[in-house]
Amino acid sequence: MNGLAYHLDPSRGRLGLEASDQERPEPGPHQVLVEVRAASLNRRDLMLMDGHYPLPATPGVIPLSDGVGVVIAVGEKVTRAAPGDRVTATYFLRWVDGPQRLAHAAEQYGANHHGMLATYALLEEDPVVHVPEHLTDAEAATLTCAGVVAWAALTTPVPVRPGQTVLTVGSGTVALFAVQHAVMLGARVISVTSTREKAERLRELGAGEVIVRADTPDWEQEVARHTAGDGADHIIDTVGMPTLPKSVAAGAYNAQLTLIGALPGPELTAGDGNPFGSSYLSIRRIAVGSRTHFEAMNQAITEHRLRPVIDRTFPFEQAAAAYRYFSDGDPFGKVVITMS
Ligand SMILES: NC(=O)c1ccc[n+]([C@@H]2O[C@H](COP(=O)([O-])OP(=O)(O)OC[C@H]3O[C@@H](n4cnc5c(N)ncnc54)[C@H](OP(=O)(O)O)[C@@H]3O)[C@@H](O)[C@H]2O)c1
Repeated sequence: MNGLAYHLDPSRGRLGLEASDQERPEPGPHQVLVEVRAASLNRRDLMLMDGHYPLPATPGVIPLSDGVGVVIAVGEKVTRAAPGDRVTATYFLRWVDGPQRLAHAAEQYGANHHGMLATYALLEEDPVVHVPEHLTDAEAATLTCAGVVAWAALTTPVPVRPGQTVLTVGSGTVALFAVQHAVMLGARVISVTSTREKAERLRELGAGEVIVRADTPDWEQEVARHTAGDGADHIIDTVGMPTLPKSVAAGAYNAQLTLIGALPGPELTAGDGNPFGSSYLSIRRIAVGSRTHFEAMNQAITEHRLRPVIDRTFPFEQAAAAYRYFSDGDPFGKVVITMS
């Protein structure tokens, strides 16, 4: 049966999202055909549309890395999935395990391989990941990018230990997963956000202390106060260069700081002196995670019955409205598109 698929035309920017008929694909020997039930948006999907993502979108590609569906056919050599399984896929097609290599970043669903905003998704076998059973389709469609990067940030290379303090900066989808995962891992969470309303919602998710940037611009000092002067053990900065200096200042002597946010900011100059101050914290950037990270996260999510935060769900035919809302609406949680 034929379906429908959206295609990206990056040369047309925000107007470049068009739906057309989709023939049901036939899986090759190592491929898995999925009937998609829900998909969700990430910041990278706007960057791909606008032509600002490091990996250019192939014109005509079906967008979105995040989605979930049911396997309806498999190639004759496939062993990792069977018809009837509810699955998603990893962000990078070829990163199964071990350290990330540059080559892993070169192949991504929704960028240069067809993604999830369609009736059918044709996946390679290796990136297929089974999703936690207790999640709805909409919830299971939120995990691939934001969920996994937050998990990898907190569990590698030095995992958060119970009782440690995790500082999250920002309240986009990565930060919300970071709060939830950190609570799940037994950490104490301090969050920094922009408004009192978001602060209240972060508290409901399990953040023990929330600092509102507008009320407390020197929030790094407030983090010190909440940690008896020690600073946070792990910092997940989901904003970028504008908040990095304060995130560094909020860290403990040997803290782990993961910079996930990609916002540019003022360049550091020699006049800024030593940005580390007297601390020996480690700063790193990461890009999502491997299949091993994804599967470990799913196991923890299943054990703890974690439920991702969804801000709003749109029907498939209103995909363009979902993009607009995600871009302009300041959502708190994932924006999901459902197929039926
Ligand atoms: N490396 C990776 O693997 C990876 C994966 C996913 C996303 N990302 C990147 O991570 C970032 C976060 O993505 P996301 O989808 O979670 O969230 P997002 O929608 O980009 O929002 C980030 C949050 O940062 C805060 N913020 C924005 N501008 C700010 C500023 N100038 N100063 C201070 N705070 C500011 C806001 O939170 P408050 O209102 O609470 O302050 C905002 O909700 C993006 O840059 C995205 O491209 C990277």
